[in-house]
Amino acid sequence: MSMEKELHEYTAKTVRSRALHEEALAVMPGGNSRTTTFFDPYPFYIQRGQGAHIWDADGNDRLDFNGNYTSLILGHAPPEVVKAIQEAVVHGLSFPGPTEHEVRLAELLTRRAPSVERIRFTNSGTEATMNAVRLARAFTGRPRIAKFEGAYHGTHDWVLVSVAPDPKAAGSRKRPKPVPASAGVPPAVLKHTVVLPWNDPEACEQIIEAEAPNLAAVLVDPLLGIGGVIPPADGFLPRLRALTERHGIVLIFDEVISFRIAWGGAQERFGVRPDLTTFGKIIGGGLPVGAFGGRADIMSSYDPRKGAARISHGGTFNANPATMAAGVATLNALTPEAYARLDALGERLRGGVTRLLAATRRKGQVSGVGSLFCLHWTPEPLSDYRSSRPKDPEAPLRLFMGLLNEGILLTQRGLGACSLAMTEEDIDRFVNALARVLARS
Ligand SMILES: Cc1ncc(COP(=O)(O)O)c(C=O)c1O
Repeated sequence: MSMEKELHEYTAKTVRSRALHEEALAVMPGGNSRTTTFFDPYPFYIQRGQGAHIWDADGNDRLDFNGNYTSLILGHAPPEVVKAIQEAVVHGLSFPGPTEHEVRLAELLTRRAPSVERIRFTNSGTEATMNAVRLARAFTGRPRIAKFEGAYHGTHDWVLVSVAPDPKAAGSRKRPKPVPASAGVPPAVLKHTVVLPWNDPEACEQIIEAEAPNLAAVLVDPLLGIGGVIPPADGFLPRLRALTERHGIVLIFDEVISFRIAWGGAQERFGVRPDLTTFGKIIGGGLPVGAFGGRADIMSSYDPRKGAARISHGGTFNANPATMAAGVATLNALTPEAYARLDALGERLRGGVTRLLAATRRKGQVSGVGSLFCLHWTPEPLSDYRSSRPKDPEAPLRLFMGLLNEGILLTQRGLGACSLAMTEEDIDRFVNALARVLARS
């Protein structure tokens, strides 16, 4: 089926969503508050979610492999998390001071990630990476940061560089040029951002060695999550660790997505100890959240005792009790057995998709680790952002729309996540739906 036919089917099924979108257009630019969730001609409006399912305003039921962009690791409205939130909010919604819930979530996270000796909470992953970058600059006294081409770290200026650049504007593969990812990013940001090629240790070494005296931090999403869930090659992260250590550069792992791949996150799974870590998504149990933490000596810049904080970090809703309680309930449900189950679901999905693509001779592949996966529409071996770019730029969106019509929700770029609310039958349903979409495309 062509994109046109998929769109026709979608619009026929989503009449109420279209009406809501038209109302939204009168009060929000493009009817939208969240660019990442928008797609043409309009997104469906969500009415409720339960377990692995999500229902829209027209009553369409879809299996949710988006999970609010990988946040909902237990699925929608898990009873133990809903109960923890209810118990917290009857005592008040937010306060001008700390609560015990905050201490408990901090304890759980620092236990899971021993590199995180001290931690602070924010309301988003964006605020977490913003603080980590500022902290690295304050600690080292150096102005620049390095990030990887294709990596997304949120929406503040310092990371809105080379997120999904057109390679024609982005220099050579081994020495990528910084490209602004948004209008309004000031030239000073580009001047102070060094862009690294993922999974190319020699090129990274050359760039980092040359920039070292000015480099405060290397910021790494250990899975290049939004860039396509492309795992690090063997030895790549340890090499970055050794290199940054040698030059006194702060190594920041952005585990906003990758923390879900193991009890102790990607740092446990890949056996690398960063200086700082940022968190988000799953640690708030479905409510707005972020956190950053790491070495006690570095984090001490935030210590306000005797008015001595070098960095002031406020936030009206930081560590609010509802989010903290939801995070504690979620982490308590994430036992070692739960991770084994999530891994098995991810393996089953990747195996099924790989067999389907081989059987139908499609020039596609599926990448991923644990419960995370990403569909790619290129035959090129996947190693970095550039290798993952689709040969036909419309392919990911056509697949996304086709899957929506089959009752499956993914992200527009093909990133997906299995949740603990899913069964093996749900995974098989995904593979069968993909087979039908491919058969008609
Ligand atoms: C690796 C990574 N870092 C940071 C962020 C930003 O988090 P938030 O959307 O909560 O601001 C995201 C969001 O997808 C992310 O994937």
